[in-house]
This record gives sequence, C-alpha cells and structure tokens, in this order.
Amino acid sequence: MINPAYFESLGNETLEFLSKAEKLKKEKNAVVLAHFYEPIEIQLAADFVGDSLELARRCKDLECEKIVFCGVSFMAETAKLLCPEKCVFIPAPDAGCLMADMIDENHILRLREEHPHASVVCYINSTARTKAVSDICCTSANAVKVASAVEGDEIIFVPDRNLGRFVAEQVPQKKFFFHPGYCPIHDNLKLEKVLEAKAEHPGAPVLTHPECQPEICALSDFVGSTSQILRFVAESEDREFIICTEDGVIERMRMLHPEKTFFNPDRETLFCEGMKKITPEMLIDTLENGVGEVFLDEGLRERALRPIERMLEIK
Ligand code: 13P
Ligand code: SF4
Repeated sequence: MINPAYFESLGNETLEFLSKAEKLKKEKNAVVLAHFYEPIEIQLAADFVGDSLELARRCKDLECEKIVFCGVSFMAETAKLLCPEKCVFIPAPDAGCLMADMIDENHILRLREEHPHASVVCYINSTARTKAVSDICCTSANAVKVASAVEGDEIIFVPDRNLGRFVAEQVPQKKFFFHPGYCPIHDNLKLEKVLEAKAEHPGAPVLTHPECQPEICALSDFVGSTSQILRFVAESEDREFIICTEDGVIERMRMLHPEKTFFNPDRETLFCEGMKKITPEMLIDTLENGVGEVFLDEGLRERALRPIERMLEIK
C-alpha cells in the first residue's frame, strides 16, 4: 500500500502524467508492466510492478490487447515470447541489459561441445537467441529450484557467473560450469563499500541481490531477487537496512516504508542506465502512438519459448 503522504509529495507534472497514462491505458486496452528498477514515476504508472519471474508469470494471464513493458529489452522480448497474440511494446527499445549482451548462441554451443552431458540453465537476463539454444531458463528468484530440478548431474550455467556460483553453493550435489558473464552494476559493488556501510550502520541487515560478488553475498544477512528483498523489508522488525541492489528498489522501499531507513552502499555504482531509459514522455508516446512494438521471428519465438515454459512449470 503506497502511503498517501507520498502522493501528496508528487509534483503537478507527475500527477498530470499519471492521470494521462491512466486514461490512455483504458482507451487503448493496454496494461503497463514495470520492473522495480524503473524510475519511480514509471513504477507508479504501472498496473503491476515485479521482479523478472513475477512479470513473466503475470504476462500470461493478462486480458488486454496491448502490453507496454517498462524494463530492459530482454524483458519485453520475454513478454512477446509468452504472449504472441498481443501487441507488446517497450517505450525505449534501446534499453539494454549489459549482462544479456555478454553472451550469444555460439558461446553456448561451444560450452555444450565441451560438456556434452550437461544441461544448459540460462538466466532470463539473455536474448531470445541465447534462450533458444538453452534447456531451461531461471530467474534470480527461482535459480536454486531450477538447478535442483533439472535432469542430470552437470549444469552449464549462463551468463551470470556470480548468480551461478551462488546457486552452485546451494546445490552441491551437481557439478557446475560457468560462463564468465556478469552484471557490471552489481559486480562493480566493492566489498569495502559494504564493509564501510556496515561499520556506519551496525545492526542494519545487509540485503543483497545474487548478481553481486560472492564475498558480498557471503557477508549478507539475506540474498534474493528484487521481490524477495522487498518482501524481507516488509516483514522485518528492523528499522534500518543496507541494500545491495539497483537504486530503483531503494526508492520503492522509501515510498512504501517511510518509517524505515535504507542505505545504498554505493549509489553511483548501483544505477542501471538501461532501466532508467524510459521517461514519462516516452511511456505516453507509446500508449498514444504505439511506439516501440516488439517483433520476433516465429521460429525463434517457438525455440526460445520452450526453456521459459519449462521454467514456469516448476512451482
Ligand atoms: P530480478 O530477477 O530480481 O528481477 O532481477 C533482474 C535484474 O536485472 C537484476 O539485475
Ligand atoms: Fe542487466 Fe544489470 Fe541492469 Fe539488471 S542491473 S538489467 S542485470 S545491466
């Protein structure tokens, strides 16, 4: 529940944008989905805000003609994979994920040759072409479950080496092979910054996204997806928290829990440019004029959908 004081603090321009977006959504039979890393005005304009797994699940049950996806391009692509009958739009088509661009299908084909008995578990932060040559997808929320459920004793985990290492620790019965990809935003967070924040705020639990480096995960009180971190905060009795993930999550926490205090150990680093590309003007333009429609070749769509569907079958 968003506190009313927060709405009162919004300027006229933001309130006008929100009311215009609301009107256009109805007129155009469109639903707006947004990731927690989006700018706060975009999150406020969305019908549903979630982590990658929740957003993928939500797409499937929508009864609307159009989906406007506010996130990075692999997320909008995933929505189109799951909902081919709907028009899917991303207001900033060049909003990319730096990690998704670190791997392509050739890397996977080479890894498969080196480890012919291993299953390929592909983080959803990847392009449709990468997914198309993978066995199953995962997100940061379900990666441990997926790796445990997948057949066989060997896993090629792509593209995030940090998430891969975090999962391998929880699934010691399997042998993992990693791709060296990473998220520069999370990977650049240095241990010293987190130690400094801990020294300044003793007693504040450290909540971390598994894309961070292993030594940061190891000293954290909780490691989980963006949704899981938000849930931890909502359910915790603590009043202060150190948050090791992108700043959009922290803004959302400040909006939802004004009575609690959140510390970002390195604000300059924990900022994803791709996630901040969509502006209110762009969202209105997409709703009004259909800018940024996502198209996928049908053969590629069918191949890339399979690993996503396998993931969604795992409860
Ligand atoms: P979530 O799976 O927690 O939504 O994270 C996605 C992401 O891009 C993290 O950098
Ligand atoms: Fe990609 Fe990192 Fe941005 Fe997440 S934070 S969308 S992994 S670049």
